[in-house]
Amino acid sequence: AKGAVGGGNPRDFVAKMKDTKKRLVIFYGSQTGTAEEYAIRLAKEAKARFGLSSLVCDPEEYDFDNLDKIPEDCAAIFVVATYGEGEPTDNAVTLMENLEDEAFEFSGGEHRLENLRYVVFGLGNRTYEHYNEIARKVDSALEKAGATRIGQRGEGDDDKSMEEDYLEWKDGMWEEFTRVMGVEEGAGSDTADFVVTELNNELAPEKVYLGELSARALTRTKGIHDAKNPYPAPIKEARELFAVGGDRNCIHVEFDIEGSGLTYQHGDHVGVWPTNPDVEVDRLLCVLGLGAPERRNTVIGIESLDPTLAKVPFPVPTTYQTVLRHYIDISATAGRQSLSALAKFAPNPEAAERLQQLSSDKALYAEVVADGSLKLGEVLQLYSSSTPPDFSVAPTPENVTPWNIPFDLIVSLIPRLQPRYYSISSSPKMHPGSIHITAVVLKYQASKSHHPERDPKWVFGVGTNYILNLKMAHNHETAPLMAEMGVEDVAESVSMPPRYAIEGPRSAYFHEKVYKVPIHVRRSTFRLPTNPKTPVIMIGPGTGVAPFRGFVQERVALAKRAVEKNGPDALADWGNIWLFYGCRSSKQDFLYADEWPYYEDQLKGRFLMHTAFSRETPRKPDGSKVYVQDLIWQQKDLLTKAILEQKAYIYICGDAKGMAHDVEEKLMQMLGEGKGGSAEVEGAAELKLLKERSRLLLDVWS
Ligand code: 2AM
Repeated sequence: AKGAVGGGNPRDFVAKMKDTKKRLVIFYGSQTGTAEEYAIRLAKEAKARFGLSSLVCDPEEYDFDNLDKIPEDCAAIFVVATYGEGEPTDNAVTLMENLEDEAFEFSGGEHRLENLRYVVFGLGNRTYEHYNEIARKVDSALEKAGATRIGQRGEGDDDKSMEEDYLEWKDGMWEEFTRVMGVEEGAGSDTADFVVTELNNELAPEKVYLGELSARALTRTKGIHDAKNPYPAPIKEARELFAVGGDRNCIHVEFDIEGSGLTYQHGDHVGVWPTNPDVEVDRLLCVLGLGAPERRNTVIGIESLDPTLAKVPFPVPTTYQTVLRHYIDISATAGRQSLSALAKFAPNPEAAERLQQLSSDKALYAEVVADGSLKLGEVLQLYSSSTPPDFSVAPTPENVTPWNIPFDLIVSLIPRLQPRYYSISSSPKMHPGSIHITAVVLKYQASKSHHPERDPKWVFGVGTNYILNLKMAHNHETAPLMAEMGVEDVAESVSMPPRYAIEGPRSAYFHEKVYKVPIHVRRSTFRLPTNPKTPVIMIGPGTGVAPFRGFVQERVALAKRAVEKNGPDALADWGNIWLFYGCRSSKQDFLYADEWPYYEDQLKGRFLMHTAFSRETPRKPDGSKVYVQDLIWQQKDLLTKAILEQKAYIYICGDAKGMAHDVEEKLMQMLGEGKGGSAEVEGAAELKLLKERSRLLLDVWS
């Protein structure tokens, strides 16, 4: 963001300091980056100790004729390396010429720099004759001009002890700094990596990022679409897959990738970049005292104090609201460490103490935050309220007490909002211009509620509720239609999915009533064997069936071509493809129930689907439900033969902990028997072998 702020002369560092409210300017004379690193460390430390922000400058980019204009409560720090025969680094040549030039007498007389306070740290090498000569020259020139040095001049020896020299020097320097600058230790934050500057809305609106995920989005540079540059894909179709009247939702979405350059294979994943729901954006804005409309839309610049260690993780300039809605993960359960960094910004001493206690007491944290599934905004709202807040009531500047947390700390503490990955449920051979996903909407009750009348507290998955909102927007559904989702009284209900602002940013994602979603494709190794003669066993209950819809479509497309070419008997020597699918009932959550008969027809008996309806089919004699693994067991002779003799491929997709584990147990048992041994020995060995040979493949999640 160099030169990005302020008008006027970009080479005027004093103006820039004033514009960006910085009390320190740090110049580094660096050839390979070491001096620059130390400059950044000093900047970070000034921020951490005193809350002072620095302008870290490459001296080549600035003029020095206004060194005398640095305000009295500020200071300049010079971190300069010496090279070869006492030479400055390339980027410090002009700086040195200026400082040493007799004519650079700071024209008003010999004491022109009386107001300047400075710090010098040099980097040199003792094996050379002119050890740290440049730092010494900077020091003497400034001294001669009447400036005041803070602490001793530091000199580091690159040959032996640079780090120790630095550490030994800096503590004494900071001590003196505290006295001379009249600042106090402890005023700063200890973790902010960024400096946030309000830009007073002076930038042209089209230069401000409002949710675009890559810097390229505004510059309109073409480029391949990948995780760094997701493609805003128009929604082609979005519909509910579960029967009306249930309390669960499963959304089928088709993203239009025509002309995007995006390609995919069956079994790949698609990364969908969600936003945060309105209620959480509003809550955190209010907690930060930024809830008022004119505050939330303030244009801000963000600079990294150390671009080598911490890059600004999203495009800037942007606005407060955009950062919280599009760029950082404010919906995750609040971390214990980040809470401890925030205690000192509490609106009152009691809140500070309680938050400090919460962050240091693991058991208390587990009970309050983890069991309550509390997001950062919720924790802060809870701890600054005299009575337990109702999290389902819309947060406003009136009902939320603001904390004094600096925004740069928020940017430092909260990680970037990440894409959510879904198994692609289509085949490019059948749907070359679109990517389908099948997402069950995540919604559950927290194990603890902090409000007596709002018990249970509902927790909503960010990605899938965003998708649910997209589906509603795409189909022009409005709130009352939510009754269809099993919610009777919309106003009363706290189990309603949260609302998202679907129409931002600008027209990039909302254009002529077409909603666009940023996506990118992630390749996977979850693929069918290339030879259609190889049998395939697919196990995917629930949304675990998603990739297998793609697999089946892939085989259907191939079969069509084969039949067109070689006639109706073309599939005679093809291997079987089994699909073991399970859901609660054939009427309620049977995914793509209307499509399977078509695929069966196209694959001419080669496609064998077995379904377990766990809440419909009578239980087994021992009282347990009938699941996919029971169906596998029923087919064990055929399947064992396919695996052991015809080299079948096995695929498991879905819930990792319960289902995948139970299915593997059953497979071991079956293979153990087939090998004439036990599940534990022969079965386990065979399963291991299958995994090693990539004939047993998993796409599972927890
Ligand atoms: P249930 O919810 O009736 O227990 C998709 O979620 C299907 O997977 C449901 O029918 C669900 O049954 C079932 N399921 C739950 N746990 C399972 C397990 N350990 N193994 C196989 N299927 C399971």
